[in-house]
Amino acid sequence: MFSWTRQMTLRGIFKTIHWNVICLIVYQARTLSARCVGEKTESNLVSKMAPIIIVHGGAGDIPDSRVKGKLDGMKVAVTAGHEILMKGGSALDAVEAAVVAMEKDENFNAGYGSVLTLRGEVEMEASIMRGQDLNVGGVTLVKEFLHPISIAHKVLTDSPHSLLGGEGAKLFALEKGFKPIPPESLISENAKRALDRFLKHGEFGRTEIGPKDEGGVGTVGAVAIDCQGHIAAATSTGGMSGKAVGRIGDTPQIGSGTYADDHIGGVSTTGHGESILKYCLAHSIIKLMENGTDANTATTMAVNGMTSRLHNTAGAITLSKNGEVGVHFSSNRMSWAYIRDGQIFYGINPGEQFCEKYEPEK
Ligand code: GLY
Repeated sequence: MFSWTRQMTLRGIFKTIHWNVICLIVYQARTLSARCVGEKTESNLVSKMAPIIIVHGGAGDIPDSRVKGKLDGMKVAVTAGHEILMKGGSALDAVEAAVVAMEKDENFNAGYGSVLTLRGEVEMEASIMRGQDLNVGGVTLVKEFLHPISIAHKVLTDSPHSLLGGEGAKLFALEKGFKPIPPESLISENAKRALDRFLKHGEFGRTEIGPKDEGGVGTVGAVAIDCQGHIAAATSTGGMSGKAVGRIGDTPQIGSGTYADDHIGGVSTTGHGESILKYCLAHSIIKLMENGTDANTATTMAVNGMTSRLHNTAGAITLSKNGEVGVHFSSNRMSWAYIRDGQIFYGINPGEQFCEKYEPEK
């Protein structure tokens, strides 16, 4: 875990600054992923895989007031997943843990803090995929549970079906012992304000975050490779502010919001759901990698391709089967973070990457 208290001490501040001076890098993500991953990848091919996890907290016009909360939330989420990987846990459990952390956090459009439908209600969606056997679980139109991603995980492990929605998802969750909560308890003040503004100003969001003053939260996702080399991806969202009741977006749809295949890599996407699902964005990235394109180029090409074809924005995080990282967004901002080799890398603006020493809890 990050030692935030340590950072408050003079020594901690010096150490942090010192480390940041060494590590602060602002350059294109393409260069970054090639340099940060390349050497390690070679050796991993002949030895055990070094586990890695990457998370995102949504693409869009994130206002300045939300940047710190989002980056803090990224660090908590990526750490939660990484701790599981370091104990030998599965990529599937790691991505669930990372997403659970963000579903609890009001800074993200998932779980508590989800944006609202035109009727002022939360309707959440999530999906998760295991790259070893291509097994999947998805839920949509979930209203009474804090962690849709955990129900999706249960669909993957315990249901003969792949995607459950509405009443069926609720019955399944209750059968599996998930505790329902009052749907109103998931509604944040920020989500209410965002819906009010949407109702006054009208235009349906071009990303799930919407214009600058309309909430500033975003879909969440994670992709991980465990020490066995297995890949998993997970994505969770409240959708778009002011969406129609019953609207289903990209997030629960495998190939759009989420994809993982041990033979190729894993992807989680964020952004304008209707565009992402038309373009099958997650699978488009996977296909490019299958044909030999590196993770970051594939992510950049597919996200930009979607935006140029459909005129809406998106973002994605990607890991190749060898642990190469891809991060790209066509929106103004997207928060993301990953941990590798004792360092945490993170950013939110285009072409930006910060790096800090990562100190796990003893
Ligand atoms: N990408 C989230 C949504 O549009 O629902």
